[in-house]
Amino acid sequence: MYKEVKLSEKIYYIGVNDRRTSLFENMWPLDRGISYNSFLINDDKIAIIDTVEAGFFEKWLDKVRTIIKDRPIDYIIVNHMEPDHSSAIRFITELYPDVKIVGNRKTTPMLEGYYGITKNVTEVKEGDVIELGTTSLSFHPIPMVHWPESMVCFEQSSGILFSTDAFGSYGTLDGGVFDDEMDFEYFRDEMRRYYSNIVGKYGNPVQKALSKLSALDIKLIAPAHGPLIRKNIKDVIARHDRWSKHETEKGVVIAYASMYGNTEVLAEVTARSLAENGIERIRMYDVSKTHISYIISDVFKYRGFIMASPTYSNELHPNMEALVMKLQHMGFKNHLFGVIGSYTWGGVAAKKLLEAGQNLNWELVGTPIEQKYSIKEESFNACIKLGEEMAKRLKE
Ligand code: FEO
Repeated sequence: MYKEVKLSEKIYYIGVNDRRTSLFENMWPLDRGISYNSFLINDDKIAIIDTVEAGFFEKWLDKVRTIIKDRPIDYIIVNHMEPDHSSAIRFITELYPDVKIVGNRKTTPMLEGYYGITKNVTEVKEGDVIELGTTSLSFHPIPMVHWPESMVCFEQSSGILFSTDAFGSYGTLDGGVFDDEMDFEYFRDEMRRYYSNIVGKYGNPVQKALSKLSALDIKLIAPAHGPLIRKNIKDVIARHDRWSKHETEKGVVIAYASMYGNTEVLAEVTARSLAENGIERIRMYDVSKTHISYIISDVFKYRGFIMASPTYSNELHPNMEALVMKLQHMGFKNHLFGVIGSYTWGGVAAKKLLEAGQNLNWELVGTPIEQKYSIKEESFNACIKLGEEMAKRLKE
């Protein structure tokens, strides 16, 4: 049984919630699950917009059949080929062999490569329209948001934008499906974590997509994950605009690795100095405790970033190394950074953290600190000074 959720007279939400998967893309923690959003237009023609992860196919199919009964599906619109949205397609083609599969020229080889599908594939390009009855869909590729073939489609009569990964969020839809039916505050943070983890590297493509979408009169954004947005459209678009331009806020993330607490003490002294110098938003993370997805999300938000790590086998602490590698892969911009290293013999941590910040063209604040053994008066004073200098730069 399925309690129908309508976006408009002829358009339905038929997505599913995944509360079982622990890690999205087998990487990113799903503390509160994730939804795979899918939509159905029940007009003279029947169109499905995006599907679900294959393990949820039966649940999804029940919803489809509750609405369309024994009518055939005319179109599956493939906005995005990542398997969380596409892996059910091969089952659908077995049940509905005449269904037309709509993608673009970059979708076609992926359909064949992943699922061996070559039959009934229709390629659309920018501005093409498919008429379904009183409803119609126009197509707009948004490459690299999040894959090369990613596209959105726009239903003209209702003003609904089916936006694929763009404007998506972690978190299941727990009864509320639309942003005005729920406590949306939770999703603001999860939306940023989703954006920074999944799409954050592709700021320029996101800017191009936003520019293209600004020509549409959008009344509702229907992403492929998370809440459907109708109350907070301007706010959500503005946030993505800021994020994709790497605009940051006043505040500092301190990420530290510490095996026996000596590096942590250096980080704590620096944090106290920041607070005494007027920085209210300070987020401290032990990289061995907190998954990097949360740290990355806050690094994305705040301008200041202080990294502290011991030297471990002539390298960074492995968890700190994983964080700085990921940040370099993602090319995060516009940060002020500070460096704290510690060691017992042969210190290299400070040098490697400095290189990481320089590789990202971040601006170094203060002088890198390198402490042998435990904190001493000199390193204590250096941490105080780092906090003062970071606070000063953030206030300028
Ligand atoms: Fe939700 Fe890029 O897939």
